[in-house]
Order: sequence, then C-alpha cells, then structure tokens
Amino acid sequence: MEIKIDSLNAIHEAAKAFVQTMGDNTVFAFYGKMGAGKTTFIKALCESLGVTEDVITSPTFAIVNEYRSESGELIYHFDFYRIKRLEEVYDMGYEDYFYSGALCFIEWPELVEELLPSDAVKVEIVELEDGIRTIRFDD
Ligand SMILES: Nc1ncnc2c1ncn2[C@@H]1O[C@H](COP(=O)(O)OP(=O)(O)O)[C@@H](O)[C@H]1O
Ligand SMILES: [Mg+2]
Repeated sequence: MEIKIDSLNAIHEAAKAFVQTMGDNTVFAFYGKMGAGKTTFIKALCESLGVTEDVITSPTFAIVNEYRSESGELIYHFDFYRIKRLEEVYDMGYEDYFYSGALCFIEWPELVEELLPSDAVKVEIVELEDGIRTIRFDD
C-alpha cells in the first residue's frame, strides 16, 4: 500500500489512514534517508493514537522514547541512528520491547536489521522533489 502526503497539512489524515491498516501488527520499521520524515510521521501516528503528553520517560539511553496512548497502551519509539555496536542494543534489552506486544515504531532499523522480529512491518518513506512524501509498506 502507498500513502501520499502532499504537505504537512495532510499528515494527520495520512497517519489516520496508516493506523487503520496496522491490524494486529506491533513492530513497524521505518526506512528512509535523513530528512525523509520518519520522526514527523511517527509523531503524527502517536497523535493519531491519542498520545497527548510528551515523552513520559526519559530513558537513560536516548535510543527509545516511551509514550502512552489514549487507551493506556504503551508505545515505543526507537531511533537507532547513533548505535555504534549491536551490543548497545542487546544491553538496552531490545527483546523486552520488540516482543512485548506493545507498538514499536523504529527509525534506522537497518542498523539493527538482524534483531528485527520476522513479522516486523517494513515501511519506506521517500521524499520526492516537491516535498511530497510517500509512505510504502506491504499489507
Ligand atoms: N510529510 C511532510 N511534508 C512536509 N515536510 C515534512 C514532512 N515530513 C517531515 N517534514 C519535514 O522534513 C524535515 C525532516 O523531518 P524528520 O521527520 O525529522 O526526518 P527524519 O526523521 O526522517 O530524519 C522536518 O523539517 C519536517 O518538518
Ligand atoms: Mg528522525
């Protein structure tokens, strides 16, 4: 499936459409270049899911932020950009997150590719010349 986002004004509508396709999947890996719009789209997804407060925990490691949805469910937002060694990911206990059943939105999944659950949904964000973004994933 492909969702097109013409401008930031359309991001909430796009996030809603994405949320409607999520089904029972919990782990979503967002691939895309620096500046493609991964963080922005994940934030829009969280808002769509009713996250109102800012980050509710300030983890020791800047790798994961934790949010709580309107219905009280935890949502984990990872950014693996600064990972230097896979050890760091083992040390933070990644399995406890990825296999928790809670929603996990992951930036820079290519840096932890071998640790992703086999049923992780791979999402690709591309910025086109005119600032339009496309969000592509298998469904
Ligand atoms: N759908 C969009 N339409 C227009 N601008 C966007 C969109 N998504 C992100 N941006 C802008 O692009 C820049 C980079 O976005 P960001 O989400 O930080 O990218 P990434 O996390 O992929 O590096 C920000 O200035 C943001 O406002
Ligand atoms: Mg980012």
